[in-house]
Amino acid sequence: MEPKFVSPSVIEASNRAAARVRERLGGAKPRYYIETYGCQMNEHDSETFAGQLTQMGYVPAASKQEADLIMFNTCCIREHAELRTFGNVGFVKELKEQNPALITVVCGCMMQQKGVARRLAQRFPFVDMVLGTNELAQFPQFLERVMDGERVLEIKDTDGEIPEGLPIKRNEGFSTFVNIMYGCNNFCSYCIVPYVRGRERSRRAEDIVREVEQAVNDGFTEVTLLGQNVNSYSGFGVTFPELLRMVDKVEGLKRLRFMTSHPKDLSHELVLAMAECKKVCPHIHLPVQSGNNRILALMNRRYTREHYLSLVRDLREFVPWVEITTDIIVGFPTETEEEFEDTVSLVREVGYSAAYSFAYSVREGTKAAAMDGQVPEEVKKSRLQRLNAAINESVVGANDRYIGTRGEILIEGCDRRGEPMMFGKLPSLKMVYVKGDESMIGEYKNVLITGTRFNSLCGEIE
Ligand code: 5AD
Ligand code: SF4
Repeated sequence: MEPKFVSPSVIEASNRAAARVRERLGGAKPRYYIETYGCQMNEHDSETFAGQLTQMGYVPAASKQEADLIMFNTCCIREHAELRTFGNVGFVKELKEQNPALITVVCGCMMQQKGVARRLAQRFPFVDMVLGTNELAQFPQFLERVMDGERVLEIKDTDGEIPEGLPIKRNEGFSTFVNIMYGCNNFCSYCIVPYVRGRERSRRAEDIVREVEQAVNDGFTEVTLLGQNVNSYSGFGVTFPELLRMVDKVEGLKRLRFMTSHPKDLSHELVLAMAECKKVCPHIHLPVQSGNNRILALMNRRYTREHYLSLVRDLREFVPWVEITTDIIVGFPTETEEEFEDTVSLVREVGYSAAYSFAYSVREGTKAAAMDGQVPEEVKKSRLQRLNAAINESVVGANDRYIGTRGEILIEGCDRRGEPMMFGKLPSLKMVYVKGDESMIGEYKNVLITGTRFNSLCGEIE
């Protein structure tokens, strides 16, 4: 099925509403503060909200205390994220008492969960606007209604559309994100994302290329293409490897990254595109979740340990110096000690350059939440600690092979703990520390790797 786009008339109406708000503010420059939780997808949505607020005449605030509008862009991937959000929204009560004109907005994935938005609105009467994940385009209209004294609660229970042509204010830096698709169709049994982000829909390849060109014009040299499962991108017949080859040609772009890849859809064509495209970095985020086949099946991941390891071999054979990172869940319902050990052994076998590990967190409405055999919290905690020990050992162990090699880093900043050192990443995402000064930030430098430092490298600029 072809994806639906937010109709251009809705985008135009939104631009007109933004212009009206701007006029209404009459040259005043109210300040906004956006607090973003969760993944890069949310970060990216926040950049769109910031773009709209800028269009309306708002300017960024340095802190919540200074803000005239506070927005919480929420996440619900794990319970922890949810608890933190409720706590932080509650804290705004005091600020609202000091500044009754303060506008408070709560949006994002968590609001899309059944009943949560209503519960939040009831518990926090000072919240002025609650939005779901499909309402980005109409934000200026909603803000207008809030300014008229209305309380706005808008959460569409649809699969969502693709909004093209909204303004964006990118976070400062040299590296930025471009969304290539929305939603997810995979229904991994533990995951809430398909319920809160709707079905998968891919943007047109030409719209993506244009956005990358614009980002490069604005001074960004590194772009990460974003999607929940980029390997199933299908932009009116264009596949993900084809899209990579198209974006790779954008003039002025230095580095091209992408995430996240689902192992079930990782094709040899993609491996070849990674190997052949000059700007595509030798790094892949390939969440494995578990090293045990019974658990993988229960998770509905639709690949086996053996298949995953064959992908790793393929990547290593064709993409020189490729670094692989992953996500892992421990304590999935019914996971036994032996099955957990399969995950530990897989971590050792693959040799990840970073692995993000999580204790399984029950998400209401997902298949796994209703499974028998939930694992006690203390068992999850103990497995998480043991897994992290294995991850740290294998990461540190793999760094020595870099000593004596050469590469290029993009200098990102200065680390002032101890003797000040500049730091930046190799294309593979490995962090390198070098001597230098702040004038180098944003520059690409050739380095010789001379040693290791925790799970990073150190080197000399050549
Ligand atoms: N519990 C724990 N971790 C989860 N993730 C997704 N859902 C859950 C859950 N219910 C993890 C997965 C995913 C990452 C973004 O978050 O590892 O890859
Ligand atoms: Fe969640 Fe699985 Fe979709 Fe990733 S692929 S967002 S883990 S359902």
